[in-house]
Amino acid sequence: TWTMGNIIDDQVAAIRAQVGDKEVICALSGGVDSAVAAALVHKAVGDQLTCVFVDHGLLRAGEAEQVEQDYVAATGIKLKVVDAADRFLGALAGVTDPEEKRKIIGREFIRVFEQAAREVAAAGDVEFLVQGTLYPDVVESGGGTGTANIKSHHNVGGLPDDLRFALVEPLRTLFKDEVRQLGLSLGLPEAMVWRHPFPGPGLAIRIIGAVSADRLELLRAADLIARQELTAAGLDRDVWQFPVVLLADVRSVGVQGDGRTYGHPVVLRPVSSEDAMTADWSRLPYDVIARISTRITNEVPEVNRVVLDVTSKPPGTIEWE
Ligand code: XMP
Repeated sequence: TWTMGNIIDDQVAAIRAQVGDKEVICALSGGVDSAVAAALVHKAVGDQLTCVFVDHGLLRAGEAEQVEQDYVAATGIKLKVVDAADRFLGALAGVTDPEEKRKIIGREFIRVFEQAAREVAAAGDVEFLVQGTLYPDVVESGGGTGTANIKSHHNVGGLPDDLRFALVEPLRTLFKDEVRQLGLSLGLPEAMVWRHPFPGPGLAIRIIGAVSADRLELLRAADLIARQELTAAGLDRDVWQFPVVLLADVRSVGVQGDGRTYGHPVVLRPVSSEDAMTADWSRLPYDVIARISTRITNEVPEVNRVVLDVTSKPPGTIEWE
């Protein structure tokens, strides 16, 4: 029978057999899959693994720290952090088209990761790249390799020829809930293991309009409040994902104290789903919605209106961009 202990032992043996004494590199996103995949590889080959965390400045409050501090403390993994926030913000300046944002972020990610990989490779003989491909990804892409940040087929598409890696994909036979169990067995922080899915392009596709440092700060504050109240209500695991979206180019009139305000709306988009292919809007208790709304309008001065997205997928998507 399959137990977590068996899975870990089997995978550790398989990874050792595949990798031998070569060096391995892994891009951490802050998400569950890459974190668990890397932890497994680290258990198998220790410091032959170097993880790279590209901080694109588009993460939510506390997420970079979770990777840089909590995850490293829990695993002892060798981590190279690249603070690329300015670079991503520069490349995104003035861009409003959702696909354009995605393309820019994907391109910059490859460039930054490539540079980091070269630096790691200069120090050793890197032949392998870890990816957190799950079984549903394998099925969805017709049995090929995964669809993580870097699309890949035996080598990494988008990376230059002298940076070709064979893939190590220790989660290829597993579903998400199994990956979470595995993560817990490997001693990863609960907050990381139970993190809601979060898109690679991050908050950039939750700002409707151009991305800027100010807008990111505002959205981060609103998003943190929504997450805090969801957690306080004990509802984290009842919700698949809870995007908070800033309508940065929309303003509406409001009133606060004695004054008229002319601020931005944020949209709450809590959804329930099995696999993100279809979704329904979560029927969160009204008192939870009310607390989130009150706190956001009180604590985030530029936001004077909070609205709830009550659209299923289809026809809506989970993200607004
Ligand atoms: P949609 O908005 O298409 O999202 O209903 C489905 C799921 O995919 C996530 N998502 C992304 N994940 N890169 C990612 O890694 C992306 O560009 C991207 N766009 C959407 C979304 O958060 C949801 O879980």
